[in-house]
Amino acid sequence: MNIENTKELRAHWDERYRSGQTPWDTGITPPEVQEFWKKHTPSLAGNLALDIGCGTGLNTLFLARQGLSAIGFDLSGQALMLACKRLSPSAASGQERPRGSAMFVQADVTRLPVGSLGATYALDIGCLHSLPDDRRPAYAQGVIRALRPGGYYHLYVFDGSKSDGPGARGMDDGEVAALFDGKMEIVSEERGVSSTQVSRPSSWFLLKRTEM
Ligand SMILES: C[S@@+](CC[C@H](N)C(=O)[O-])C[C@H]1O[C@@H](n2cnc3c(N)ncnc32)[C@H](O)[C@@H]1O
Repeated sequence: MNIENTKELRAHWDERYRSGQTPWDTGITPPEVQEFWKKHTPSLAGNLALDIGCGTGLNTLFLARQGLSAIGFDLSGQALMLACKRLSPSAASGQERPRGSAMFVQADVTRLPVGSLGATYALDIGCLHSLPDDRRPAYAQGVIRALRPGGYYHLYVFDGSKSDGPGARGMDDGEVAALFDGKMEIVSEERGVSSTQVSRPSSWFLLKRTEM
């Protein structure tokens, strides 16, 4: 994908959602995220969590169900229309009632319209690895600013070395470490092919904002 400006990017993602070309939209919160929250729910409940490039908001709502105040950001109005439908009383009937809250904001995450949010957790499943190269440093600065010291950043990315086809370029070896160098430490990195994502070599990273 070689797209230069925000308008074109938005049109690209809107069209993916409009035409239903959304293989990532599996309806299942990845086990990696579920596991993290099994461990952390008692200590982090009530805090702010961000879902960066939230798509149709499934995982934003998952975070709200953990008791967090969750904000989902996405560029695509089409995706956010679907996300907002999840909040409607009819969609929510029969679902577990969130203990926290969820809201959605349309924004370019390489130019987040927020300063220091003091967020406890930020999740990115498949957004950073799709960004044009020259936007990635600004995105990383936004994530660093939004998190409080000690806050976690959970990231799912395609492996860049195998991604010559259309779509996300992925992340090169060492690219995540370089983008967040000095401001976030890598707690863990798991390579593999996630069971709930399209089949492609990929990694789950857990990073932690360093104390100031
Ligand atoms: C592969 S989808 C993943 C969606 C969601 N995280 C999920 O797992 O269902 C990537 C998402 O990132 C969003 N996105 C891409 N570039 C963006 C940008 N610059 N700002 C905000 N959102 C963006 C797209 O609209 C899309 O919803």
